[in-house]
Amino acid sequence: GPEDAEIYILGEAPGAKEDQEGQAFVGPSGKLMWSDIFARAHIWRKDCRVANVYWERPPGNDFKKLEDDHEYWEDTKEDIVAHPRKFIIAVGEKALQFLTGQVGITSWRGSILRDIPIEVNGNLTFVTVLPMVHPAAVLRQFSLLVLCRHDARRAQRLLATPSLAPPSLEILQFAEALRRHGDSEEAVYNEYMDTLDAYMGA
Ligand code: URA
Repeated sequence: GPEDAEIYILGEAPGAKEDQEGQAFVGPSGKLMWSDIFARAHIWRKDCRVANVYWERPPGNDFKKLEDDHEYWEDTKEDIVAHPRKFIIAVGEKALQFLTGQVGITSWRGSILRDIPIEVNGNLTFVTVLPMVHPAAVLRQFSLLVLCRHDARRAQRLLATPSLAPPSLEILQFAEALRRHGDSEEAVYNEYMDTLDAYMGA
């Protein structure tokens, strides 16, 4: 997908078909994802940047063997923050874990996780993450399709919602004010409000 796409889709690892074609989500999971789950939410592949956490699927799906190979993930993080994204859809457990440090896709799916820090070369970028059930799980348990469609619908609604001030900027400014004024709450508050006023054009 385009480098500067507003939507970033992050999966787990390539399957057999993905290995053959050198592209993410072109096999059975991908077909289900693009032509049903995302299509129903009017999210099209051409508008998304698509990647995986891992560049290969380990034998027997044993990801522990790959856990130490962080170079590929570093590159992917760089790609994620290279352009402002409206949100990142974390497709499945691994993507959720790598992006947010949280575990349990069945609990987190369908939520909107804002201001998730992504660290690249010592710099933090704050992103919005929407965790979604993996379509591969739907292929094993068909009833999960309802949840996937719901998650995609949530993404569609978020796309249609205009955002106000970029929260990441606010948080950085707040952190900076805290650093400068130490524990003077009033000074921190005043500086923060001045910054906000300036931002809102008051
Ligand atoms: N499953 C994934 O997580 N990613 C792909 O690219 C294909 C299947």
